[in-house]
Amino acid sequence: MTASRQTVAQPGEAVGIVPGVHWIGVLDPSLRSFDIILRTANGTTYNAYLVRGSDGVAIIDTVKAGFAEEFFARLESVARYDEIRVIVLNHLEPDHTGALPELMRRAPQAKLYISTRATTMLKALLKPKGDERPFEYETVGTGDEVSLGDRTLRFLHTPFLHWPDTQCTYLVEDGVLFSGDVFGCHHCDSRLFNDRCGDFRFAFDYYYAHIMRPFKTYVMDAIKLIEPLTLKIIAPTHGPILRDRPRRSLTRYRELSSASFSERIDNDERSLIVFYMSAYGNTARMAEAICAGAEEAPGVRVSLYDLEGGELQPFVDLIESADALALGSPTINGDAVKPIWDLLSSLAVIDLKGKLGAAFGSYGWTGEAVRMIEDRLRGLKLRVPVPGVRVKLIPTDEELDACRDFGRALAGAIVSGERGKVIDFADLG
Ligand code: FEO
Repeated sequence: MTASRQTVAQPGEAVGIVPGVHWIGVLDPSLRSFDIILRTANGTTYNAYLVRGSDGVAIIDTVKAGFAEEFFARLESVARYDEIRVIVLNHLEPDHTGALPELMRRAPQAKLYISTRATTMLKALLKPKGDERPFEYETVGTGDEVSLGDRTLRFLHTPFLHWPDTQCTYLVEDGVLFSGDVFGCHHCDSRLFNDRCGDFRFAFDYYYAHIMRPFKTYVMDAIKLIEPLTLKIIAPTHGPILRDRPRRSLTRYRELSSASFSERIDNDERSLIVFYMSAYGNTARMAEAICAGAEEAPGVRVSLYDLEGGELQPFVDLIESADALALGSPTINGDAVKPIWDLLSSLAVIDLKGKLGAAFGSYGWTGEAVRMIEDRLRGLKLRVPVPGVRVKLIPTDEELDACRDFGRALAGAIVSGERGKVIDFADLG
């Protein structure tokens, strides 16, 4: 059996990466959104790989259900099922495990290798049918190896990139890193290799911003593990295979993970950002009073923004580097106003761990907005240390005093170092 020498993926043919290592993934050019939240202007790929050693064959990841037959056809072009001894899953999200149950049925002698954190997900994914025996698997961590005779697979524990289960697998003798979603992007180009594909830099950065950005510290941890490796090729699970200057991807990830806004404005200062929308100026007056109160606390830098006058993305960057945010909204038709919800829904791409949140607003009749915003802040795992302040219509001098007290209390919670509950990553997915 031989692989195609063509550098354009053809149906039913594996594509050689280095001798004995093949791409057996699939192209999905018509996909226009991924996981609902990501736009995919020219689709994506689900990359899977085959490694042949002198003592058996390994499959690294599989593909999304619905593309399984295409995956199997490529696999069959370079190996028999009874040669497969090892199946590695770097990540168990369905776009990489859709073909796994059928692969295990076709190659029942193969052993699965997953990260420790993937065990629960694997059990939910692989439920033996009828009298099928349970699938055999082994959990691995950084430095563990599997030998294929003349080739060695070494594992790197790289959790939360972007699920708890994620790991990378390094083919030692060839310097190939099978990186899972890390260094991937949603860009479908049948030429497969980064030195042949069109310009996908936007897709690379966009993918990072939406998938990896909330886990920056884990990205930096992974880079520390990957940096010392001899890296000839990075083979991710989405988008082009990076064989031309693969280290540029590490450099870019480091740049994106240490953007200037991620630093404190000053080493010793805490930061509170107050955003508001105001229909008649009442919530705006409350915001100003809250800022005035908060500014009395030494060591807290307070910023005030009218959401009506700004773009969301810079605000998201600001919030990422802030210690606390307060959101002010009038109640209109029993709800907070749309720009507040738009801002809140944009925060999923950043790490909110340890931040404080607060809400305030003027209202005419029922005033539900403040409680609704607080609930959403808690849902995003922010701590809400000071009960929200509400004012019916025009704030009186006493009510503005209460707003100043609210600002002081919030600033006090910031400087006293009260921190939010740690995100339970097991909730993800
Ligand atoms: Fe490509 Fe997180 O799955």
